[in-house]
Order: sequence, then structure tokens, then C-alpha cells
Amino acid sequence: MKSLLLILTIIPLFTLISQPKHKNLPPEIIQVRYQPDPRPDRILLTVTSDPVTSFTVTWRTDTTVTNALAEIAVSDPSPDFDEQKTRHKAISSSLNNEFASALYHRVDFRDLKPATHYVYRVGDGTYWSEWLQHRTPDAISRKLTFVYLGDAQNNLHSLWSRSIREAYRTAPNAAFFLHAGDLINHSQNDYEWSEWFNAASFIFRSVPQLAAIGNHEYIKNLEGTKTGISPFWDVQFNFPQNGPTGLSDQSYYVDYPTLRLIVLNSNEKYEEQAHWLDQTLHNNDKKWVVVSFHHPVVSAARGRLNESVLSNWKPLLDKYKVDLVLQGHDHTYARGQNIVTGAGEYEKESGTVYVVSVCGAKMYELTPQEWMDRKAENTQLFQVVTLDQDQLEYKSYTADGNIYDAFRLVKTVEGQPNKLTELPVEVQQELRFETTKPNSNQLPDKN
Ligand SMILES: [Fe+2]
Repeated sequence: MKSLLLILTIIPLFTLISQPKHKNLPPEIIQVRYQPDPRPDRILLTVTSDPVTSFTVTWRTDTTVTNALAEIAVSDPSPDFDEQKTRHKAISSSLNNEFASALYHRVDFRDLKPATHYVYRVGDGTYWSEWLQHRTPDAISRKLTFVYLGDAQNNLHSLWSRSIREAYRTAPNAAFFLHAGDLINHSQNDYEWSEWFNAASFIFRSVPQLAAIGNHEYIKNLEGTKTGISPFWDVQFNFPQNGPTGLSDQSYYVDYPTLRLIVLNSNEKYEEQAHWLDQTLHNNDKKWVVVSFHHPVVSAARGRLNESVLSNWKPLLDKYKVDLVLQGHDHTYARGQNIVTGAGEYEKESGTVYVVSVCGAKMYELTPQEWMDRKAENTQLFQVVTLDQDQLEYKSYTADGNIYDAFRLVKTVEGQPNKLTELPVEVQQELRFETTKPNSNQLPDKN
């Protein structure tokens, strides 16, 4: 009886002592391991401004790792490929928060051969990642495929995972995945970033990821005012450093043989970015131009007008006849041309196609508008875009893999709008809210 009493006393005491730091969080959101240890995790590829001959890898460990390294070799079907490997020392920086203290490491692999399969791994000489494969793009190929994803943001473990995996299954040879902002919901929550990385697993280790910064990547004070960008953004991502001054890793462009992809930060500094966008579009010699940012030129949901984006950037998108504008933020789907401007006149000549999409689980009510040629509510989607010489083919897939929207753009005479042709889809009906189940995520944020 005495020993039973002792056990009954010790068990609650032990439980109290061993409670992890996340004890104040609701148990349903702690789904993955997020504490770092000496083994590399959160491994992610991205590109420099010249993706044909270089790529960048970042990863995380705990603070005991003092000699972070990456190794790379040209791939070979024999397991002896590592005899030709080269070793590169990482640049490391620390990030401490209430959940964990960690080191984030980065290596830029440069002077690579185009169209070549490489194997690489990261570690510290004791603990290594698996050997991972990445193929550099062809320097002259006229064909390029990429994936575009709207907001992931919520339920990353339980519901966004199927979107990112189905996207990879649909386009395994994509040159990159583009995230149009709001990758997570709370910019400083380590467990949300863990869910984001875990859901994608080896995809982020094999295919370069590019991202626009959303409002949810900002830190906010108690009044809801943005006070700065999440420290996770800087250490996890290393995007090309070719944007306007002071917007490193937030505004940049990447050149592929047939594409200039321009990414902007739609949260602030609109005029500075407009000046840079004007120059970057003016100096472009690529056949196709895609621009991506988080806040849409015209909102797909009620009461969410982004006037600074509309007034500062849309005139330039029109002037240079940008082919495709890929956006997020409104947690619905809308695709169309002829965006209304100013006093209500419709642009008939620009030909720019605008898209708002969502791939996560948070859903808002759509506000149908005249410019929308295809729209959806309450539907998780991902998009695959393929450029081939004078043609651009766009397909939007539901998270369970059916084509919901599709069109082709064809280049015509220089200076004239593209010719748009609708393509067949597998889901004919327009998907709207039909569920009686309340969506707990459905209350829109303001900015
Ligand atoms: Fe969002």
C-alpha cells in the first residue's frame, strides 16, 4: 500500500517535470517533431539567379553542430559515385525562440554543369542526410515546367500535405515550385514550420522552392501592426539577391532559358518595387514573363482591396504585357483577364492572365466578378505551368488530382496580346461552398 502511494505521487510529479515546452498549445496542433538535434532536418533547395549552373541548400541542426558541411558529386548509377565528391563548408547562423535553439546552415553549389544529375548530402561528418538527387536545368531547352501554389497556411500536417504531394506526383520534373505567400499561419511558430517541411518531405530536398512573402510571414504586435519579417524567412530561404535595396530575399527575379520569373513583396514599399519592376521588365530578353506576389491586384473576396498593388504595379503589368500574374491571400480560386481598373473601364488589350489560388485548408467566400473566367470556393488546388517555345499551357488541379481549369496562351505578333484558348477540364461544374460543416478557418484576416 505504501509503495502504491509512492508511485501515485511520483507519476504526476514526473509528468509535470517532463512536460515539453509546447504544453500550452492545443494537443491537436502538435503533430510532428520540431526540436532540432544533430541530425540535419528542414533540408530545402532553392536557386540563385542562375539556376542552370548553381543551386543552394539550407538545413537545420541543434546548436552542438560546429562543422556543418555539404558534399556533392555528379550522379552515377553505381553506389560508388561519392569517390568524385567535393566537400563544401556551410555558412551557419543561429535562431533562438521560445520553442527551440537551432542553427541554420547554407551552402551554394556553383559552377555546375547544365542538364546534369547531381547527388548531394548535408551533415557534419558524423550525422549525414541521405544522398539526395537534383538535376540542373538544360541551358538551351525551350521547355520548362513549374508548379504554382496558393496559400498553404493552415492544417499543414493534416490537409496541406496531400496538395503538395499530389503536385509532385503530377509534375515530378518541375524545375521549381512557387509558393505565393502565407506558407504558415503564425510566422514565429516553430511547430508550424516543422509541419510545412514534414508535409513535403523529400520534395523540398529535390526540387528548388521559391516563395513570395505573405502577410503571415510577418511578425505582428498586440495591435496587429506588422513589425518585421519572421526570422525564419531569412535563415531558411536564400533567394536571389538581385532585388531592390533593402528587400533582399523578398523581391527578386530568376532567369530560365525561356522565362523571367519576378517575385515581389506585396506587403510594403510599393513605389520602390514599382521602380525596380519597371527596370526589370524593361531589361528582360526572355520570351515569357511571370510575376508573383501575395496580395491580388483585384481581390477575389469581398472587402479585401489592395489599392497599393493596383495603383503601383498594375500599370506596369499592362505596359509590358506580362503573361501571367500568380497570387494568393484570398483563399479562393479565380482566373481571368480584363481586370477592371480606375473608373471601371475594362482592359481589352493587355492580355495578362491573373490567378488567385489556394492549396491549404483555410477557405473564404468568393465574390464573383465579371473578370473571372473560372472560379471556385472551398477547393484545395495546385497549378502546373508548362512553357514550350511560343506556347504556355496552364492546368489547375484539385488536391485529389483532377483538372479543374486549363488554358493555353500562344504568342502572336510581338507587342500584341497572347491568344488564349480554353482547354478541356475533368471537373465541369463550378465548385462552391456546399457543405453545412462550418469551416473554423473561414474568418478572413485583414492584411
Ligand atoms: Fe492567407
